Amino acid sequence: MEVRANKTATPGTPVIVGMMPDRSPAAGAEEFLAATEDVAGSVFDAVGFEGKPGQSAVVTTSGRTVVFVGLGDEVDAEGLRAAAGTARNAVPKADTLATTLHRVEIDGALSAVIEGFGFADYRYQAYLSDPDERNALTLELIDAPKGWKDAASDAAAMIDAVAFARDLVNTPPRDKAPLDLAQRATDAASDTSIKVELWKVDRLRKEKMGGMLGVGLGSHRPPCLLKLTHSPRKPKAKLAIVGKGITFDSGGLSIKPANMMETMKSDMAGAAAVIGAMIAISKLGIPVQVTGYAALAENLPGGGAQRPGDVLTARNGKTIEVINTDAEGRLVLADALSLAAESEPDLILDLATLTGACKVALGEKIAGLWSNGEEPTEMVSAAAAAAGERVWPMPQPADYWSLIESDIADMRNSSTSRYGGAMAATLLLEQFVADLPWAHLDIAGPAFVSKAEHYIPKGGTGFGVRTIVELARSMAG
Ligand code: BES
Ligand code: MN
Ligand code: ZN
Repeated sequence: MEVRANKTATPGTPVIVGMMPDRSPAAGAEEFLAATEDVAGSVFDAVGFEGKPGQSAVVTTSGRTVVFVGLGDEVDAEGLRAAAGTARNAVPKADTLATTLHRVEIDGALSAVIEGFGFADYRYQAYLSDPDERNALTLELIDAPKGWKDAASDAAAMIDAVAFARDLVNTPPRDKAPLDLAQRATDAASDTSIKVELWKVDRLRKEKMGGMLGVGLGSHRPPCLLKLTHSPRKPKAKLAIVGKGITFDSGGLSIKPANMMETMKSDMAGAAAVIGAMIAISKLGIPVQVTGYAALAENLPGGGAQRPGDVLTARNGKTIEVINTDAEGRLVLADALSLAAESEPDLILDLATLTGACKVALGEKIAGLWSNGEEPTEMVSAAAAAAGERVWPMPQPADYWSLIESDIADMRNSSTSRYGGAMAATLLLEQFVADLPWAHLDIAGPAFVSKAEHYIPKGGTGFGVRTIVELARSMAG
């Protein structure tokens, strides 16, 4: 998306402006409401436009098109981001749009508006024989404030990173074996200062990554661990981010029913968020040492596959009885978290499409947040709120440990009970973080959605990229 600053809208370009309830114009909308007043009222009546969030009305009169978008009574930065997305979708064919939405007087309005348009302009057309040839969006900011160029270039880093994560998630699973994904991440990192390290299967064996190796056994396409490092000159803090990267989750021998498997190309969304965020963090030059780990493997039921009842030894020496091969995310994360903990970061955050149970609990819009202390919970909650991504704190009850007690190993990978499945998973993860400050986002719901909304497309959403970037920003002080 290209962003420009203009005194007035280029003739013929639709102008997007904000409206509050009672048909009162938001800052920057007055002149456009006045210019269309001959017809605006009747259009608002006809489409039921009341200035509420999610609503829009397209008004054309004397050669000018104005898109009114509802902001509600009390809009915040996320509300503006969403309004920009809603407005973009109201005129989907336009390749140039002008706006005054950034003139609403709240902190971060300009960045939020640019991001909203940018996130909403995403299309995934890589597999269409006849792609829509429309140009990427050009956005004209009417009366842009000083400093708009910096805001636009920072927003572009975020928009591109989110789009990249969405692309990776939307890619069909045959075309994103673990090594393919590692290659795409390496290519994307090549125009940044990120250091890339790839551990293929021989190295995984040498490094005792028993969880990743175990999960990878059922596929002809081997697992690998991708490590991305951002090392600024004088880092203010040290952050590790870890992503579950199951490029396809069939369940393995504990095979999933067909309908549960349909969206399982998205089981690498945690890794996609880590990869996207690393690239953004590097482009933004955030002064925090950030290491990203993507634990990549394909969970298939091939002849070599691990069996229910097998026991594996993770990187930190702890043993796990694999009762259910479909509880594979925690197995690859056990290794990657152990490895991340070895460099003793100030905080470890992992992101994973880990449990159907979390998706049942919180739905498609909200991620579950677990941690081993109050501070990590607060840090990640604040970062997510600043980013406009919804997360909700969940309990980590120590007395639920009995759910994953094994008769023959240190723990089992799936619960003895039908209930509390998300906690059974997070109690296992906690065994691999060496008591360092740690938080976990279960993104099974929001990573891949069945319904588009404002700037969020159907399918891969890139959820998590923005929270990670904000977390790194907050650790920079
Ligand atoms: N990748 C799934 C979790 C998932 C489900 C993500 C639905 C997104 C949408 C995970 O590997 C899994 O299969 N979890 C099992 C765990 C169970 C076997 C203990 C689940 O949630 O059913
Ligand atoms: Mn699974
Ligand atoms: Zn999975």
